[in-house]
Amino acid sequence: MAVFYSFVLCFILVIVIPTSAGLSPESFYTAECPRALSTIKSVVKKAIDREPRMGASLLRMHFHDCFVNGCDGSVLLDDTANFTGEKTAFPNLNSLRGFEVVDEIKDAVNRACPRNIVSCADILAVAARDSVAILGGTSFSYNVSLGRKDAKTASWEDANTNLPPPVFNLSQLLSNFQSHGLDLKDLVALSGGHSIGLARCITFRGRIYNDTDIDPTFASSLQKGCPLSGGDNNTAPLDATPKLLDNVYFKSLLESKGLFHSDQELFKNITGSESDNLVKHYSTNPSDFAEDFRASMIKMSNMKPLTGDEGEIRLNCRKVN
Ligand code: HEM
Ligand SMILES: *[C@@H]1O[C@H](CO)[C@@H](O)[C@H](O)[C@H]1NC(C)=O
Ligand SMILES: *[C@@H]1O[C@H](CO)[C@@H](O)[C@H](O)[C@H]1NC(C)=O
Ligand SMILES: *[C@@H]1O[C@H](CO)[C@@H](O)[C@H](O)[C@H]1NC(C)=O
Ligand SMILES: *[C@@H]1O[C@H](CO)[C@@H](O)[C@H](O)[C@H]1NC(C)=O
Ligand SMILES: *[C@@H]1O[C@H](CO)[C@@H](O)[C@H](O)[C@H]1NC(C)=O
Ligand SMILES: *[C@@H]1O[C@H](CO)[C@@H](O)[C@H](O)[C@H]1NC(C)=O
Repeated sequence: MAVFYSFVLCFILVIVIPTSAGLSPESFYTAECPRALSTIKSVVKKAIDREPRMGASLLRMHFHDCFVNGCDGSVLLDDTANFTGEKTAFPNLNSLRGFEVVDEIKDAVNRACPRNIVSCADILAVAARDSVAILGGTSFSYNVSLGRKDAKTASWEDANTNLPPPVFNLSQLLSNFQSHGLDLKDLVALSGGHSIGLARCITFRGRIYNDTDIDPTFASSLQKGCPLSGGDNNTAPLDATPKLLDNVYFKSLLESKGLFHSDQELFKNITGSESDNLVKHYSTNPSDFAEDFRASMIKMSNMKPLTGDEGEIRLNCRKVN
C-alpha cells in the first residue's frame, strides 16, 4: 500500500510541479508547436552567421528584459502616441540591438506553428540560450524552462532604476543583483556575459580617462578610438575575444583591463575579497565558469515570469494584442 501511495504521489509530483516559478520544462511547446525551438535556433544561427555580435546583443536583450519586472517581453514593446515603453530608457536607448531579429524569429515561429503559440518572452529566453551555446560551445549549453507569458505593460521608470549602470561600484552592483534575488556568484558569473560583444565609447569614457585601476597601455589604446569629446558611438570590444564566450574576460580583469568601471570593480586585488576570489578562480578554471554561468543564466531566465492566466501571447512582439 505504501509503495502504491508513493507511486501515486511521485506521479502527481511529476505532473503538477513545474520546474520553477510556474514555468514548465523545455518540452513545453512539443505538442502544440513541435518545430518552435528548432525554428528559433535556426534564425538565431543565421543572424549570428551574418553578424557574430548579434549573439551578444540577444543575450543582453534577455538580461534587460528580465531585470525590469521579470522576463515578460516588456522590453520589446514599441512606444506609441499614448504609451512609453522601455526602449527609450537610458540603459536601452541607442544601445539595445536585435529587435529586428526577434521580429524575424516571431514570424518564422508563427509560420511553423498552427497558430500563435510561442510567447515573445520565451523567444528571448531561447534566443539568449542559443546565442550562448553558439558563441560558447557545448560547455555553455543549458535547458531553458518555458511557458512565460508576455506583459501588457512596460515601465520606462523601472528600466531606468532596475538596470545597473557601468559606473556602479561593487556594493552597488551587489545590491542591485540582490534586489533581483541574485547573489555575488551570480553577479560575477553573469558579468562574464561581457566576454562577448561591443560597447560604445560613451559607456566607458569615464573609465579610460579617469580611473586609476586601469592598465595604462590599455587605456591609451582605447583613448584613440574614444576621444574626450565626440565619437560617443564608436565601439570597443568588451574583451580581447568578443566573438567567443570564454574566460578571457576574467583574465583581463586580473590585468586591470576591464572595459567598464563596473567590470573592474569585480577584481581589485584585495586579500580575502570573495569577488576577487571568484574572478581568479574563473580565470584559471574555464569549466567552472561555464557551469556557474549556466546556473546563473537559468536563475535569471526564471525571474518573475508571467504564467498561466497572467499576461498574453503577443501576436507581434512590438505591441500588445
Ligand atoms: C553587472 C552589471 C552590468 C552592467 C553595469 C552592464 C553594462 C553594460 C553596458 C554599459 C554595455 C554597453 C552598452 C552600449 O554600448 O550601449 C553592456 C554591453 C553588454 N552587456 Fe552588460 N552590463 C551588466 C551585466 C550584464 C549581464 C548580466 C549580461 C548577460 C549575462 C550582460 C551582457 C552584455 C552583453 C552581451 C553586451 C554587449 C552587447 C552588444 O554587443 O550588443 N551584461 N553592458
Ligand atoms: C492607446 O490608443 C489606442 C488607439 O490608438 C487604444 O487602442 C489603446 O487602448 C490606448 N491605450 C491606452 C493605454 O490608453
Ligand atoms: C549615435 O547613434 C544614434 C543611433 O543609434 C544616433 O541617434 C546618434 O545621433 C548618434 N550619436 C552620435 C554622436 O553620432
Ligand atoms: C536537457 O534535457 C534533456 C532531456 O530532458 C536531457 O537529456 C539533457 O541532458 C539536458 N541537457 C542539459 C545540458 O542539461
Ligand atoms: C559605492 O557607492 C556608493 C554610492 O555612491 C557609496 O555610498 C559607497 O560608499 C561606495 N562604496 C564603496 C565601497 O566605495
Ligand atoms: C573626469 O573626472 C573629472 C572630475 O570629476 C570630471 O570633471 C571629468 O568630466 C571626468 N572625465 C571624464 C572623461 O569622465
Ligand atoms: C596583487 O597584489 C600583489 C601584491 O599586493 C601582487 O604581488 C600581485 O601580482 C597582484 N595580483 C594581480 C593579479 O594583480
